[in-house]
Amino acid sequence: LKLGVLISGRGSNLQALIDACAAPDFPAEIALVLSNKADAFGLERAAQAGLPTAVVSHRDHPGDKPGFEAAMDAALRGAGVELVCLAGFMRILSEGFVESWRDKLINIHPSLLPSFKGLDTHARALATGVRFHGCTVHFVRPEMDDGPIVAQAAVPVLPSDDAHALGDRVLESEHALYPHAVRLIAEGRARVDGDVVRIESGAT
Ligand code: GRF
Repeated sequence: LKLGVLISGRGSNLQALIDACAAPDFPAEIALVLSNKADAFGLERAAQAGLPTAVVSHRDHPGDKPGFEAAMDAALRGAGVELVCLAGFMRILSEGFVESWRDKLINIHPSLLPSFKGLDTHARALATGVRFHGCTVHFVRPEMDDGPIVAQAAVPVLPSDDAHALGDRVLESEHALYPHAVRLIAEGRARVDGDVVRIESGAT
């Protein structure tokens, strides 16, 4: 399965996907790394791995989200991308873009959805006093951080945690979860059925 990975920054989840794709039995490959920021560190990771990269900056399309998204769409389709993976991509995508990639667009979010949609999830988890936190990979729907859940990983919240320590624990779980979720989809073992994803038995 050909992946397009959309980033805006650090790209540690991109790195986890790069590393997973390096395994000979992994059923996906990265066809394009696309960033909306020219200085995203993830672009260096992609170049280091010899992967094709593109920068489509929203600043080149001021006040023109359709134009920005059309440029991204052209880059993705031109690279033959079959599944778009948002990995720290910090622009909200329009309903038109999301629907045109329906069930072919996934995101990783640093909380156990549907809890803690949006930003600052780790601080909010601590403020709420939950004992478990984690991350979610889900198919994208037009509403932010909404959509059928492919996979989740939970981590404990420890009494000594601050948002940074908790965030580090969650991030480590993200790096295992994202490749796992991509594998499920690439192997046809995760099928969207209405509002949920059915996982073929045998998968975890
Ligand atoms: C991750 O925490 C991810 O869940 C969220 O943004 C962060 C991206 O980190 N959507 P990185 O760029 O993959 O290191």
